[in-house]
Amino acid sequence: MEGNSATPVKYDMEVVRWFTIAAAIYAVVGTLVGVIIAAQLAFPLMNFDLEWLTFGRLRPLHTNAVIFAFGGCVLFATGHYIVQRTGGTRLWSNKLAWFTFIGWNLIIVSAVVSFPMGWTQGKEYAELEWPIDLAIAVVWLVYGFNYIMTVGIRKTSHIYVSNWFTMAMIVMITYLHVFNSLAIPVSLTKSYSIYSGVQDAMVQWWYGHNAVGFFLTGGFLAIMYYFVPKQAGRPVFSYRLSVLHFWALAFGYVWLGGHHLQYTALPDWTGSLGAAVSLAMIIPSWGGAMNGMMTLSGAWDKLRTDYILRFLVVSLAFYAMSTFEGPVMSIKTVNALSHYTDWTIGHVHSGALGWVAMVSFGAIYHLIKKLWGVDKMYSDSLVNVHFWLATIGTVIYVVAMWVSGIMQGLMWRDYDEYGTLSYTFVESVSAMHPYYVMRMIGGLIFNIGTVIALFNIVMTVRTAASLRSTNAVAAHA
Ligand code: HEM
Ligand code: HEM
Repeated sequence: MEGNSATPVKYDMEVVRWFTIAAAIYAVVGTLVGVIIAAQLAFPLMNFDLEWLTFGRLRPLHTNAVIFAFGGCVLFATGHYIVQRTGGTRLWSNKLAWFTFIGWNLIIVSAVVSFPMGWTQGKEYAELEWPIDLAIAVVWLVYGFNYIMTVGIRKTSHIYVSNWFTMAMIVMITYLHVFNSLAIPVSLTKSYSIYSGVQDAMVQWWYGHNAVGFFLTGGFLAIMYYFVPKQAGRPVFSYRLSVLHFWALAFGYVWLGGHHLQYTALPDWTGSLGAAVSLAMIIPSWGGAMNGMMTLSGAWDKLRTDYILRFLVVSLAFYAMSTFEGPVMSIKTVNALSHYTDWTIGHVHSGALGWVAMVSFGAIYHLIKKLWGVDKMYSDSLVNVHFWLATIGTVIYVVAMWVSGIMQGLMWRDYDEYGTLSYTFVESVSAMHPYYVMRMIGGLIFNIGTVIALFNIVMTVRTAASLRSTNAVAAHA
């Protein structure tokens, strides 16, 4: 899958290095804000009676920080890396890649300012106000253009499957972002969506689900298909299956949005369609997860010593689990119980922590070693410590939310023999308290893991740099 020309290719890797380090930093910050809002739900005192620090303002900061700052930088780092390595070519434009880096980070800074200020469009995962939306469109298009042009100048005849996933993400996110963000500005910090009522909801969840499907899944599957074979040192188990996985997801995911709006003012058939296609998605998703797992056949022993591979394998297990759980939750009778409860939050984080963050860290560690030319991390044992903290933290978080969510749903629908509700809403809130504390602890454990990862990464980079300068001095002498 690599380009193999006679003369070694000189790649543009400096920008990849910066995106990788930025991703590791945003992982710490984004999950820290997650821990803070988890603490606020368990202990409202943590809102400190300060409007900028209230749950309502910090929640979008958390979701945007983890998805677009952490997830986005991981996607840009791996995207710029994979497109060069699989095409045996440098980037079409290194300058445009730097434009993407600077532009994306400025957007992140503007999000950090605007959410605590309360400037929001009120659309989940698309909260940023219109001037920032315009900037996102420009930066995203520049990235997409540079990526596609780099594929165009590749030295290999074949376009490796990871590039297909990334290009599908680029195309889909472009028009999801543009259509969902269409709004009429009334000032620099306030605008109103051009859609109203049920159409607004429909467009929003068409966007919302496809952000999950193409950004948090498609983009990260590109990572899976490149880094799992690389780290395992084996070719992908079935290339044909990976192509089927790609086409099935590309055509299937776009129909699912209705499952977010079961039992609402939307026509009933849209929810049924969403549920039917959601169920069908189990097949390609599991096909893909199995393909990743089977890539390890004959190399399973590596898991004993290769801690990076552990991240990748666990991420595949969570990918399989959340793509089974999601379709089940889309069934109307199950959704009647799960919707509005913490079960959804449990599902989100089994996908977000277990799949997205795990596969990301697998790729980040692999990249750090490759980009700084070292055989091992500063401390491989710390990679193992991080792996266990991340796994244990995720399991605690997700189990807490499953128990809390199912209990919440059952309490809300329980009637006594007179037909009155058995529990008041407040009783359900107080029943959830222990699980909120448990989630906060699980989140904190996960967050400590990210701090250890950042420390290990910084030390690896510093050691590599000082080794290089010592070698340079020795060569000079
Ligand atoms: C075939 C795969 C999947 C299907 C069919 C699916 C289905 C669902 C369903 C039915 C809901 C609940 C909707 C509601 O009641 O409001 C949901 C919520 C959600 N899922 Fe999935 N899911 C899948 C995979 C994933 C993965 C892998 C991730 C993460 C990487 C993920 C992230 C989310 C998020 C963020 C939400 C919450 C949206 C919100 O209400 O803000 N899903 N999903
Ligand atoms: C230490 C780790 C984390 C903690 C403690 C944490 C905590 C939280 C909390 C407390 C909420 C609000 C739940 C509610 O409104 O009831 C939330 C929402 C959310 N988080 Fe996290 N989070 C963490 C990591 C992540 C990561 C890594 C991602 C994505 C890659 C992520 C994506 C989301 C999303 C999409 C939502 C919105 C869910 C919805 O509306 O249904 N989180 N998180």
